[in-house]
Amino acid sequence: MRRLLFILLILGVIGGAALWFVALPQWVTVEPIGFYSPNLANGRAMFLAGGCSSCHATPRQNDPLHLGGGLALKSPFGTFYPPNISQHPRDGIGAFTELEFINALLKGVSPDGQHYFPAFPYTSYQRMTLSDVRDLFVYLKTLPPVEGRAPAHELSFPFNIREGVGLWKLLFLDGEPFRADPSRTPEWNRGAYLVEGPGHCAECHSPRNLLGGIVHAKRFTGGPNPAGKGLIPDITQSEDGLASWSEDDIYKALTSGKSPDGDTLGSSMAEIVRNIAQLSEQGRKAMAVYIKSLPGAGAKPKP
Ligand code: HEC
Ligand code: HEC
Repeated sequence: MRRLLFILLILGVIGGAALWFVALPQWVTVEPIGFYSPNLANGRAMFLAGGCSSCHATPRQNDPLHLGGGLALKSPFGTFYPPNISQHPRDGIGAFTELEFINALLKGVSPDGQHYFPAFPYTSYQRMTLSDVRDLFVYLKTLPPVEGRAPAHELSFPFNIREGVGLWKLLFLDGEPFRADPSRTPEWNRGAYLVEGPGHCAECHSPRNLLGGIVHAKRFTGGPNPAGKGLIPDITQSEDGLASWSEDDIYKALTSGKSPDGDTLGSSMAEIVRNIAQLSEQGRKAMAVYIKSLPGAGAKPKP
């Protein structure tokens, strides 16, 4: 009996150590990542598609490029305050190296080796190409430094433990790059990349489980608004979703913010449209093609 307990104890220690080990932050370690001549216009497009300013712009002022952070983002786990990502060397990310920036976006890991909380939607940004992230890094360098730091997050236990995010990542961060589907058109693939990667559309338009992970089978079928108020619509081809919208309707909505019945898209979508509307026409068209191809989960039973 004692021996059995001893063995169980040893197994427990090994299991705990293994769990601790696998939950350690994973890095992109390709250094040096080689010469690269950045494309600033593309960096700006990634900034717009990624909606960085929706979360990181200083609230209660009108400049979307004033990235001082501090907006209160409510969630079921508490309130997150996105940090200052301006070029300020102390309060912002002015001192980040390119590789540190890449690791933040693709791995959700900070320069000092801590996990970021997934309220920073790196679960989508991980699909971005290295060159898009590098262009974005250079674009951010052109924006002004802003002094001041955002308040600390107000999270309830145990969600405030960063180490725990390592376990969360094992479940919900697959570390896979975007893979094009050769059976589809280049336009569809471009749309898939923009929607699944920088656009992070699924982060809002999908229901989440109790751990805050996206429910795979219901990706894009909408769900409760994490901020607490109302529902986020289903954007698949189900009856409750966009089955009655044409590709062009979706394109127009992403361009003008108007739905086919003349309503204006509001709430957090208004800001998304303001950004996406500044992308190239081809980019928006490609997104519409991809969204129109999302299979519906089937009509829901009528109450
Ligand atoms: C939905 C809101 C949201 C969006 C959109 C968003 N972020 Fe963030 N970001 C956050 C939050 C919240 C954190 C803090 C995470 C933490 O403390 O663990 C963060 C952290 C960061 C950090 C780490 C800063 C530091 O001081 O360590 C960087 C860099 C960053 N974001 C860049 C970006 C870029 C670039 C984009 C656009 C491609 C972007 N973010 C879009 C919410 C967001
Ligand atoms: C920050 C959360 C958020 C993100 C990210 C987001 N959306 Fe939305 N979206 C919403 C909300 C909220 C609405 C509902 C707006 C309303 O009711 O006025 C909406 C509505 C829509 C609609 C209209 C659906 C309908 O039935 O009226 C479309 C189409 C849409 N979003 C597409 C997208 C695409 C494409 C992306 C990625 C580029 C995206 N959304 C990213 C929150 C988001």
